[in-house]
Amino acid sequence: MALTTLLLCVFSLILPSHGLPEAVENHNSSDLLCTCNKIAAAISGASQVFFPPAPEYSFDIEHAYSSSNEASACSVEPGSAEDVSEILRILGSTRTPFAVKGGGHTTNPGFSSTRGVHIAMSRFNETKVNSMSGTVEVGAGLTWDQVYEVLEPTGVNVVGGRVFGVGVAGLTLGGGLSYLSNQYGLTVDNVAGYELVLPNGTVTIVTSDDDDLWFGLRGGLNNFGIVTKFIFQTHPQGDIWAGIVYYAENELDAIKEAVINFQQKNDTKASIIVNLAYSSDQFLILVYYFYDAPTPSQVFEDFLAIPATEGNVSTTSFSDFVKSLNFQPVFNGPRTFYGGAPVTQYSHAIFDAFVNQTKFWGAHLSTLDKNVTVISSLEPFDKGLFSHGGRSAYPPDRSHAVLPTSLAVQWSSASLDETMAFALRNISNTIHATALADGQNVSHAAVYVNYALFGTPLKDMYGGNVERLRQIRAAIDPEDVMGLTGGWKF
Ligand SMILES: Cc1cc2nc3c(=O)[nH]c(=O)nc-3n(C[C@H](O)[C@H](O)[C@H](O)COP(=O)(O)OP(=O)(O)OC[C@H]3O[C@@H](n4cnc5c(N)ncnc54)[C@H](O)[C@@H]3O)c2cc1C
Ligand SMILES: *[C@@H]1O[C@H](CO)[C@@H](O)[C@H](O)[C@H]1NC(C)=O
Ligand SMILES: *[C@@H]1O[C@H](CO)[C@@H](O)[C@H](O)[C@H]1NC(C)=O
Ligand SMILES: *[C@@H]1O[C@H](CO)[C@@H](O)[C@H](O)[C@H]1NC(C)=O
Ligand SMILES: *[C@@H]1O[C@H](CO)[C@@H](O)[C@H](O)[C@H]1NC(C)=O
Ligand SMILES: *[C@@H]1O[C@H](CO)[C@@H](O)[C@H](O)[C@H]1NC(C)=O
Ligand SMILES: *[C@@H]1O[C@H](CO)[C@@H](O)[C@H](O)[C@H]1NC(C)=O
Ligand SMILES: *[C@@H]1O[C@H](CO)[C@@H](O)[C@H](O)[C@H]1NC(C)=O
Ligand SMILES: *[C@@H]1O[C@H](CO)[C@@H](O)[C@H](O)[C@H]1NC(C)=O
Ligand SMILES: *[C@@H]1O[C@H](CO)[C@@H](O)[C@H](O)[C@H]1NC(C)=O
Repeated sequence: MALTTLLLCVFSLILPSHGLPEAVENHNSSDLLCTCNKIAAAISGASQVFFPPAPEYSFDIEHAYSSSNEASACSVEPGSAEDVSEILRILGSTRTPFAVKGGGHTTNPGFSSTRGVHIAMSRFNETKVNSMSGTVEVGAGLTWDQVYEVLEPTGVNVVGGRVFGVGVAGLTLGGGLSYLSNQYGLTVDNVAGYELVLPNGTVTIVTSDDDDLWFGLRGGLNNFGIVTKFIFQTHPQGDIWAGIVYYAENELDAIKEAVINFQQKNDTKASIIVNLAYSSDQFLILVYYFYDAPTPSQVFEDFLAIPATEGNVSTTSFSDFVKSLNFQPVFNGPRTFYGGAPVTQYSHAIFDAFVNQTKFWGAHLSTLDKNVTVISSLEPFDKGLFSHGGRSAYPPDRSHAVLPTSLAVQWSSASLDETMAFALRNISNTIHATALADGQNVSHAAVYVNYALFGTPLKDMYGGNVERLRQIRAAIDPEDVMGLTGGWKF
């Protein structure tokens, strides 16, 4: 088998078609097998190629949500940056479509999946604290909960994801919103360096000395190569006060007033997420509370006066709190799409619109599929959210905070995918119109790239940065190797 496919390889070399994204349809299964075998022959013992039905293959291609899965020809787990380099060279020279997966939490199909060659970064799994420099090296295959667990006994922490299972790589490369962002900024504002395999296979360390790549990697996701390692600045971390609490629908007005007041308090140690959800013909409210100290200030007093149906908040460790936010199986959860609905303030009108949209679409979509859940997650970040770092691909405008607001829809039937995408676009558009009518200047409020639904125009996320990002991309990747993988493309 291996010999046959290797022989076939000689005849199946495809000439690079410069600038044109390569369709998997142009590669038959023997082409793809041939590329897989070429990779297997080129990589060191630190790395390995897997074919279906190996359990490693299945694990490699799985995502948090089944709607993001695709069956690739093979998977490869590189174990060194040099092997990533070999792999990229082979994929580039054969123009083979590929995917790069970190934590596998994207909800956009094709962003970290492929029918070509699937690269799973799981072997980059080291967390190495350097207390002298106040930094930590984190492998690109880790999830945030794994990193927090290792950091827990060290007394320092990083600015990363908020729930169990989310990957370090995708979250960081798209910007990164954290419970700690009100104090320290986005995750990218806390990166000290990247180990990056450039599209031509060169392994390099990127720091702020490299104007263009530094700018591009701060929000530009997989356009500039494959990151193998992140170096993050650390911050002291003690116990926190945190938890999640459920409220019944009749507390909506009280929750609304509490959210509106919360935005006036400017307490950067406090962070909340207010989830408005419709599921199984019920509307419910679920609030995440976080305070970066063992006991909170008075900042949550309005919320704590509201009768709850379930849940609790207590002094706990950062790692334990994130670990507890594990509502779904880590892999192959329900079909799910995310969308973004950025505003500059959660006013009465905006809060009401989110409630109405969640209920309206929840009820309507539930008539098509009983298993539908619609969630609007309001994130009242501090006004200084974007003031902690310099220019970056995302956000394109750091002059004022944008409240990113994620929308999520979950369902069962694949035949409803387009309907669900339509609903998310409709909610985003309705909220945008409501914000304008509310007097908010959202014309330049970028959609967070890690929430944006597939098909979102680049300028809605990257604004005035799109042209510069295109130029950087053209200079770094003249052969358009990264165009062979999915995601937002400059
Ligand atoms: C339940 C849930 C909770 C979330 N919570 C947060 C949150 O608290 N804060 C926040 O900011 N976002 C959050 N998000 C959004 C999250 O940032 C994105 O889903 C992000 O894509 C997750 O990264 P990943 O590595 O898990 O994703 P993957 O699906 O593995 O990758 C996402 C993208 O990054 C690219 N990529 C992955 N690894 C590399 C690499 N090594 N080099 C180059 N490109 C790479 C992939 O090719 C893909 O295009 C959440 C999403 C979900 C579903
Ligand atoms: C499939 O690939 C083989 C080997 O490269 C090639 O000989 C054959 O023509 C290809 N078939 C199609 C339908 O493209
Ligand atoms: C990292 O992965 C290797 C296998 O590639 C495994 O042996 C090792 O235990 C893992 N380390 C951690 C910290 O998970
Ligand atoms: C918080 O900041 C806003 C605007 O910057 C200001 O109007 C408000 O008074 C501040 N609140 C407190 C409690 O300092
Ligand atoms: C917190 O609440 C959840 C859900 O109500 C419950 O399962 C959990 O046991 C509670 N934890 C504590 C420490 O009380
Ligand atoms: C709620 O949303 C629906 C659908 O967008 C719309 O028709 C209706 O007018 C809205 N109701 C209110 C009170 O805004
Ligand atoms: C809803 O989910 C259940 C359990 O996962 C499944 O058996 C059922 O087929 C789903 N319903 C629809 C309409 O897809
Ligand atoms: C949303 O969808 C409804 C119909 O379902 C339509 O009437 C309305 O115009 C749409 N609004 C936007 C802003 O897309
Ligand atoms: C809206 O904000 C942008 C920058 O984000 C600014 O250039 C523009 O002048 C603002 N418009 C108004 C009407 O304030
Ligand atoms: C690879 O790309 C980088 C960045 O454009 C460039 O500096 C380097 O010379 C290239 N290496 C080779 C071998 O072409």
